[in-house]
Amino acid sequence: MIIANWKMNGSKELVIKWIDSVSQNIQINKKKECIFCPPNCYLDLTQTLLKDKCKDIKLGSQLFDSELLAPLTGGTNPKMLTDFGCKFVIVGHSEQRIHHAESNQILSNKLEIAIETSLKPIFCVGESLQQKEANQTKNILLDQLNALSSNIVDKCVIAYEPVWAIGTGEHAETSYIEEIHSFIKEILKAKTSSANNISVVYGGSVNLDNYREIYSSNQVDGLLIGGASLDSNTFTKIYNMS
Ligand code: PGA
Repeated sequence: MIIANWKMNGSKELVIKWIDSVSQNIQINKKKECIFCPPNCYLDLTQTLLKDKCKDIKLGSQLFDSELLAPLTGGTNPKMLTDFGCKFVIVGHSEQRIHHAESNQILSNKLEIAIETSLKPIFCVGESLQQKEANQTKNILLDQLNALSSNIVDKCVIAYEPVWAIGTGEHAETSYIEEIHSFIKEILKAKTSSANNISVVYGGSVNLDNYREIYSSNQVDGLLIGGASLDSNTFTKIYNMS
């Protein structure tokens, strides 16, 4: 599974050019999902273009609100996302946790409602540098994974994104990623026996120089790519060659 997370980047023109280029060069392998998460304002355009040029790239959203009905100015509910053909949604990204003060309770509600609406959550977890340095990583992950109740574990994708690696150019070492991914998998298996096939993807400064080594680990089931996914050639190469 290779995911492009554009964050708050792009323009109409860039979406059009990116889809044009990626659809001409990508070699989709049905066993390796390809997911594109543009900003919500480009979902409609993206859905239209993908229908025409590359139906096998799946659409994901970076943002939604946890209620279906609420007098919420500026809100987007998950049903609206399915109107645009979204199949995936990013939940609990550290940038959202920080900027929108998303607690475990809010995230737990978001995970439940996403699944009820047939969206597959890409649930992000990860420690800050301070927490890593204080040897708190596993406790933090344990706490963050508490937002996942046992009956929905197997309906989610987990993204391990150490906060200190996001957008910094400093990715985690493969041995460290392996240790953490196997820890996450153990925690999830302890929650439910149906967690055996859950995908744990890595995100944080993935680029053309490091994707191969990270993805080659059998603990890594995919990549969540931010900055480097904006370039269509880079994203296509990472997808095709991983
Ligand atoms: P990055 O972002 O690849 O730019 O570090 C990853 C993410 O935030 O999902």
